[in-house]
Amino acid sequence: MSALQLISLFTALPLLNLISASPTIHHDEYRHPSNGICTDYTIKSEVTSNDFVWGLDHFNDNYDVAAFLFNNSRKDTFTTFQPFSGTKNVTKQFEVAATFCTPEEMKGGKEKTVLVATHGLGYDRRYWAPSYKPDEYSFVQYALANGYSIFYYDRLGTGKSQILSGYTNQASNQIEILSKMVQEIRKGMYTSTVKASKIVLVGHSFGSFISDAMVAQYPGLVEGVVLTGIGFAGLTDDAGPSSRWIPSAFASRIASTVSSAYRSLDSGYLSFGDVYAHIETFFHQPNYAVDVVEYAQAISQPFAIAEYLSLGRISLVAAEFKGPVFITSGQFDLIVCGGECKSTFANGTQKEKFPKARVLETYAHPGAGHGVNFGANATGFFGKTVEFLDKNF
Ligand SMILES: *[C@@H]1O[C@H](CO)[C@@H](O)[C@H](O)[C@H]1NC(C)=O
Ligand SMILES: *[C@@H]1O[C@H](CO)[C@@H](O)[C@H](O)[C@H]1NC(C)=O
Ligand SMILES: *[C@@H]1O[C@H](CO)[C@@H](O)[C@H](O)[C@H]1NC(C)=O
Ligand SMILES: *[C@@H]1O[C@H](CO)[C@@H](O)[C@H](O)[C@H]1NC(C)=O
Repeated sequence: MSALQLISLFTALPLLNLISASPTIHHDEYRHPSNGICTDYTIKSEVTSNDFVWGLDHFNDNYDVAAFLFNNSRKDTFTTFQPFSGTKNVTKQFEVAATFCTPEEMKGGKEKTVLVATHGLGYDRRYWAPSYKPDEYSFVQYALANGYSIFYYDRLGTGKSQILSGYTNQASNQIEILSKMVQEIRKGMYTSTVKASKIVLVGHSFGSFISDAMVAQYPGLVEGVVLTGIGFAGLTDDAGPSSRWIPSAFASRIASTVSSAYRSLDSGYLSFGDVYAHIETFFHQPNYAVDVVEYAQAISQPFAIAEYLSLGRISLVAAEFKGPVFITSGQFDLIVCGGECKSTFANGTQKEKFPKARVLETYAHPGAGHGVNFGANATGFFGKTVEFLDKNF
């Protein structure tokens, strides 16, 4: 598939504090769900990854970002724009902040199936467990109520995890970190008293691409995969070319120039220009509540430019993965389906990524955009996921 499509992977965006005062937002709250027994972990991992090396000058200001957005959007970007100068193997130690929860109320041993959730660009682990209106929007709370255990973490460069330069933080190092954590979860290192019998990766957007790439590289590590906010549009689908415009639709700006909250991030981190850019790319009128989107904006996190650019350049074909795979997005996902997912799923191109999957199901959630967990009827979406898990694990 073309690099165009891959690039589309995008996920969330950063946001900033242009927020009005409506919901009471506790920026620091990574509150545990009320129906779980939860433990926080700080995980140190030394990993080696084959990283892309940034080949251009760093952005000095938003004029440079505007030039980048132009470079990235033009029709011949794949031949005219080479942001990386090559690759090299890098060994480094990283620190990741994570939470593991097991249900307070067990449901017939299902707690031994551990979901490992990786969020997308623009958010941190609170995408899965918002403290705002959790009954309606927390996937973690929903999964626990249905008996599953769940491990969720802040990807590098977000939340309470380690920050590194936005010119080096990318897919490769995050894939290696995820695979290492999964192997340690299997050994029981971050699952409190639970011994995992099955592990299922759950991703959103960039987190889905990372999860997919992990099983492409290491097909034997997990039993199943749930990918949300993802489309895998085929070559004849206009979603591919339109994805080049996504960073422009974010109105991407250097994060530290948008909010003082991001002053510790270097110029390789970009954020949404404003809440309306976030809405255009993540939500679909009338399928969202303004207070919830304001919360999403308030907790949003900048993304690394190397994360975005590395995505179109990694292998997503999980040729040897045999477990069940669920591929889903909102019906009106602009980022991965060019604004309309039913035709993207009707074409069946998802199968090219998982040719040996024992089960492969796709689902477009009615009315939703890319940020499904913060859209209307998020619990209807969680219900579809749990239905898939109950049937296959
Ligand atoms: C834009 O692309 C040109 C090459 O076409 C390159 O020389 C320039 O440095 C790029 N600028 C940015 C900010 O990406
Ligand atoms: C990087 O590591 C891979 C395997 O992990 C190896 O095949 C490759 O030769 C290494 N590249 C360099 C430049 O050392
Ligand atoms: C997939 O797209 C191709 C090219 O547009 C089209 O010919 C084909 O009928 C589509 N297949 C399905 C199942 O929609
Ligand atoms: C919510 O989503 C579920 C799953 O698709 C669906 O069955 C239900 O009708 C939806 N509810 C509303 C109010 O749209």
